Amino acid sequence: MSDTAYSGKRITCDYLIVGSGLAGMTAALEAAKHGRVIMITKGKAEESNTRYAQGGIACVIDEGDSFEAHVQDTLTAGAGLCHPDVVRAIVSAAPERVRDLQACGLHFTLQKDVEENSSSAQGNQYHLGQEGGHSNRRILHAGDITGREVSDVLLARCRENPSIIILENHLAVDLISTRHIEWQGENCCLGAYVIDTATHEIKTFLSKFTMLATGGAGKVYLCTCNPDIASGDGIAMAYRTSAEICNMEFYQFHPTILFHPKAKSFLISEAVRGEGAILKVKKGDRYETFMENYHPLASLAPRDIVARAIDNELKRSGQPCAYLDIRHHSEEFLRKRFPNIFKECLKFGINMAEDLIPVVPAAHYCCGGVRTDVNGVTTIKRLYAIGEVGCTGLHGANRLASNSLLEAMVVAYNAVCHSVGHPASIPEISANIIPDWSKGDAVDSDEQIVISHNWEEIRRLMWDYVGIVRTDKRLERAKNRIRMIRKEIEKYYWNFIITPDLIELRNLASVAEMIIDSAIARKESRGLHFNADYPPAPIDSKGKDTVLRRPLKSEIWFE
Ligand code: FAD
Ligand code: SIN
Repeated sequence: MSDTAYSGKRITCDYLIVGSGLAGMTAALEAAKHGRVIMITKGKAEESNTRYAQGGIACVIDEGDSFEAHVQDTLTAGAGLCHPDVVRAIVSAAPERVRDLQACGLHFTLQKDVEENSSSAQGNQYHLGQEGGHSNRRILHAGDITGREVSDVLLARCRENPSIIILENHLAVDLISTRHIEWQGENCCLGAYVIDTATHEIKTFLSKFTMLATGGAGKVYLCTCNPDIASGDGIAMAYRTSAEICNMEFYQFHPTILFHPKAKSFLISEAVRGEGAILKVKKGDRYETFMENYHPLASLAPRDIVARAIDNELKRSGQPCAYLDIRHHSEEFLRKRFPNIFKECLKFGINMAEDLIPVVPAAHYCCGGVRTDVNGVTTIKRLYAIGEVGCTGLHGANRLASNSLLEAMVVAYNAVCHSVGHPASIPEISANIIPDWSKGDAVDSDEQIVISHNWEEIRRLMWDYVGIVRTDKRLERAKNRIRMIRKEIEKYYWNFIITPDLIELRNLASVAEMIIDSAIARKESRGLHFNADYPPAPIDSKGKDTVLRRPLKSEIWFE
């Protein structure tokens, strides 16, 4: 159903879904079987982290593989912080959710699409990718544009579904909860205030169930492969509503982003290393391998270890980048296996079959988020968090490659099932007592520079002080600065009429502070959180989640 069919300032629905990535669209299609769905998204419906996914979806499909092996790989990468029951539930649900995707029209790459001389029987089997930390080839992929294919087929299914209204250019500003009204019961989500980014009108959406599917927060760092939408809105909104937020110190840096002044943070998939690419650094006139000094799996070690190793080598040598060497493969194979990466590299004069590929690490994935169970159930009634915005316990201290698309599908599906099974828990609240957005005494802004300046400053300070390697001193510096920046932003927010840029900046600052606070709270090095002042936690030691929660009664955002 097109968004022209919809208008009005106060809108009610059964399901309000915030975000149109894999999690949002999976939930929308499932929820449409049970009620009226509105899926809002702050830009074009196509724009999401999902769209840029390359490697694929981890799913046990091969007879030589097993759920238990996938579970163990996930637990090992997660460095003692995964919730094993959640890992088992998500890993074992993978084949069923993958079949749903295929029913929507997704085609995964087959052996015959990639390999020369594949016999016809074998040729019709899936070509399974290999990525860091996986003990088996188990990554289903659609060439090297898995995310684009997923996004296109699901969006087509959503658009043709009469029970789903898609509203583009609608940015959720804040969740509406029982905090906004006289209500003595449990904190309960009632919908969201949403700004139409074309008209700047703020609308009131009231829903039986609200599902945050807003993705990650890569924009909090100066260098990231995430698109601009990734400003952590869902995590910040949930925090303001006093939901529990978990493990924010674990931000994953992807080791291999193309290093070229004109390439806008283009990812070179870990699947390239899965096909044998070796990491090298330049020493004098020579290019030398180094990963064997850091981990037995060398270039295919878990991501935290590879990113840290590259960071260390570059700091030591003063070189600007590391290199991937996949020249042992023919151009024909590389063009078939990585058509998009090959084309993109060629744009910058790099022929993967003949040249080394310059790469650097960049912020990639938020392992923490709104605390949920495997059904996306948050600590706020009627509010679900699904996909990257949530923290189920699957990833622990470091996400295993290609487990996030999987998690997004499984948890989104589970969330709808859970909502259907729990209608009785919904309190009856008359819509009349829920206020519309009030702009109070706010006036138009006099100085937009505050927004761009603080945006840059946050991203730089996070990169410099809260990046791949942290220390107590760096974290303390970061905390002092973010407090000042947030005070300034809050003052600006309440004095001036809000705009989409200001809303995103406020969210970004809030997420930055959550990452810093969580990093300060963790007095050990574990997984992605490496603090040079603390030794690594012993392998096999069980860690504890870091949980943040804004006190419910306080309406004051900071002291
Ligand atoms: P997203 O896909 O990010 O969607 C979020 C949606 O929410 C967007 O539509 C956005 O516009 C909307 N939104 C955000 N805030 C608001 C707001 N305030 N109001 C309204 N709408 C809002 N994972 C894998 O498993 N395998 C891979 O191969 C892989 N490759 C990746 C490659 C790249 C370059 C990147 C960046 C990530 C990759 N990941 C991969 C991670 C994976 O893509 C994401 O974790 C996953 O797609 C997240 O899906 P999502 O639906 O939770 O969020
Ligand atoms: C990649 O293709 O390297 C990204 C995979 C992921 O982030 O899971």
